[in-house]
Amino acid sequence: MNDSSPRSALLAGATGLVGGHCLDLLLADDAYRAVATLGRRPLPRTHPKLTHHVVAFDRLDAHADLVEGRDVFCCLGTTMRKAGSKEAFRKVDYDYPFALARVALGRGAEQYLLVSALGANPRSPFFYNRVKGEVEEAVSALPFEGVYLFRPSLLTGERAEERPGERRAEAVMNALSFLLRGPLRKYRPTPARVVAAAMLAVAKAQPGGVRVYEPEAMKALMAGEAGPGGSRMPERGR
Ligand SMILES: NC(=O)c1ccc[n+]([C@@H]2O[C@H](COP(=O)([O-])OP(=O)(O)OC[C@H]3O[C@@H](n4cnc5c(N)ncnc54)[C@H](OP(=O)(O)O)[C@@H]3O)[C@@H](O)[C@H]2O)c1
Repeated sequence: MNDSSPRSALLAGATGLVGGHCLDLLLADDAYRAVATLGRRPLPRTHPKLTHHVVAFDRLDAHADLVEGRDVFCCLGTTMRKAGSKEAFRKVDYDYPFALARVALGRGAEQYLLVSALGANPRSPFFYNRVKGEVEEAVSALPFEGVYLFRPSLLTGERAEERPGERRAEAVMNALSFLLRGPLRKYRPTPARVVAAAMLAVAKAQPGGVRVYEPEAMKALMAGEAGPGGSRMPERGR
């Protein structure tokens, strides 16, 4: 696949940290003629290319006519602290991204880009990593032309809300960054804007297949030191 005609994007999670950067980049990029966003609340933003829809992700099938876009960017997610229970966490980090992928595919979407997390693994003993791995596996099995899985380490960037735990972790990582070398480099924090920029670059390059992007691949891509191919994930999905 390599279609250079103007594209349409569908973005879920535009009110979040990575999603907000994605939205800025999509609106500024001439490769995208239309950007639709889905969220549970109004988006305090207007732009000639932007259409926002307030939806209930629990009942996405009922809003299928609004699920419109060739490239689908899923930046949804919550934390265990905010969700309050494993079930509520799983709903936001598995059920909603999978429902979005399923409905979007039925509506003609071609590429699905998911923000996952470093350590995602369906067989992980850790609940968070297991849910991320399971959602990766589920969306990878859908017959999109491309499924691209972005696995940041701890995210950095300006948030409206305070997350003291994440800020403490960032301070510790920064203090210990001299230890995070070689294969441990990927544990250095990942700027949210790098994740968003890598997502856009990959969407536009349309490498196809199921591909994974860990922090070093995203950083190298944005530094022009690597192409948009990431790592293939042949053992899952197709
Ligand atoms: N934080 C980290 O250090 C870190 C590290 C690795 C991976 N990740 C993953 O990266 C992804 C993006 O993270 P982020 O920090 O950019 O996320 P974020 O800022 O917390 O934004 C999450 C988005 O999901 C939406 N959302 C949350 N709960 C929802 C619900 N119940 N119903 C509908 N929408 C809901 C939010 O909408 P509202 O604005 O309406 O709440 C927001 O648009 C997530 O999947 C996260 O797990 C994060």
